[in-house]
Amino acid sequence: MELVNELQRFQFTRLARGAEARDGADVVAGLTSSPKTLPCKYFYDAAGSHLFEQICETPEYYPTRTERSILTRHAGDIAALTGPCEIVEFGSGTASKTRLLLDAYADGAKEVHFVPIDVSESVLRESSRDLVTRYAALSIRGFSGTYEQALAALHPAPAPARMFVFLGSTIGNFRNAERRAFVARIRDAMATGDYFLLGIDRRKDPAIIETAYNDSQGFTARFNLNILAHLNRRFHGNIVIDNFTHRAFYEPRRFQIEMWLESRVAQQAALADLGLSVGLARGESIRTEISKKFDPVDLAAEFTAMGLGQVALWSDHKQWFSLVLFRLEAKVDGGDGAAP
Ligand SMILES: C[S@@+](CC[C@H](N)C(=O)[O-])C[C@H]1O[C@@H](n2cnc3c(N)ncnc32)[C@H](O)[C@@H]1O
Repeated sequence: MELVNELQRFQFTRLARGAEARDGADVVAGLTSSPKTLPCKYFYDAAGSHLFEQICETPEYYPTRTERSILTRHAGDIAALTGPCEIVEFGSGTASKTRLLLDAYADGAKEVHFVPIDVSESVLRESSRDLVTRYAALSIRGFSGTYEQALAALHPAPAPARMFVFLGSTIGNFRNAERRAFVARIRDAMATGDYFLLGIDRRKDPAIIETAYNDSQGFTARFNLNILAHLNRRFHGNIVIDNFTHRAFYEPRRFQIEMWLESRVAQQAALADLGLSVGLARGESIRTEISKKFDPVDLAAEFTAMGLGQVALWSDHKQWFSLVLFRLEAKVDGGDGAAP
C-alpha cells in the first residue's frame, strides 16, 4: 500500500502493487477452466479505458447516454435526499457522469469528499486531477486497485454519511452469487443511514442490447481484443491477437449479454510470467465478460433481504435504464447466500 500525494486536494493509495501474483492467479484459473474465461477487470489498461470511452460515444451504446440523462434530471434530487455525504465510487473511470453528482453536492457546500476506486491507475489520476481543478470545494482520496482491496482499506467517513456509487450497470458484470457477495461486502462497510446509488441496465428487446455490444465502428471488438494485448504486456505473453474474433450475443435464460473471443485457428497461447501455456481448438472461445440486465423489482427484493431499503428509483422514459438509491436501514448479516 503506497500513499501518493498528487496535488494538494488529491491523494490516492496504490493498492494494486504486490497483488500481481493474485491477479495472475485468476487468469490461470480462468484460462484452465471449461469454458475458458478471463476476469473483465483486465480490459482496463490505459488503452482499454480509452476504448471504453469511445464505446460510450457510439450511437449504439445506449447505457451511458441514458444513465447520463437520468443523472442530469435527478442529481439534485439525489443530493437533496441524502444530504451532505462522502461519495465513494466503484469503477469511477473518467468520472464523466459523476460530475453531474458532484455539481449537485458542490452546490453551496464548503467541502465535498470524493473517493474514486479504479483498477486503472492512469484513468484514476487523470480524472482526479481534472476534478480538483474544476471543483474548488472538492477533496479526493482515491484508491488505485480492485473494489475488494479498496473496501478493505476504506478510512472512516469525514462526512455525516457516505454514499457508495456504482454506475454504468457495471454490477451486471458479476454472476448472481458474486453480486450478492459483493453487495454484502458493501453493506458490511456501511453505517446505518449510509446510501448506495446503483445504475442498472434493464431488460429490453435483445436486438437493442446486441447492437450496443457490436457497434458498427468496431470499438467494442477492439476493446474485447485489447484484453489479450494487456495480458501479453503484463505477463510477457505471446498471444496472437489476430488469431481471435470478437463475439457478443444475448443469453436470454440468464438475461445477460456475453462477450467472447473466438479462436480462428488451433493454437497455443503462453503467458511466461504465469508459467502458463494453453491450447485452443479452432472455434473454441474465451468468455471475457457477462453483462446482466435487470428487473428492478427483483433487484430491490434482493437488496431488501440484505438490509438495504429502496429509497427512490429514477428511469428514462423508455425504461431502458434505472438509477436506484438504497439506504442501509439497520446493520444486519446474511442475505447473500443464495444459488449462483
Ligand atoms: C464499465 S466501466 C464504467 C466506468 C464508469 N463508472 C461509467 O459508468 O462509465 C468499469 C470501470 O471499472 C473499473 N474496474 C473494472 N473492474 C474493476 C475492479 N475489479 N476493481 C476496480 N475497478 C474496476 C474499470 O477500470 C473501469 O473504469
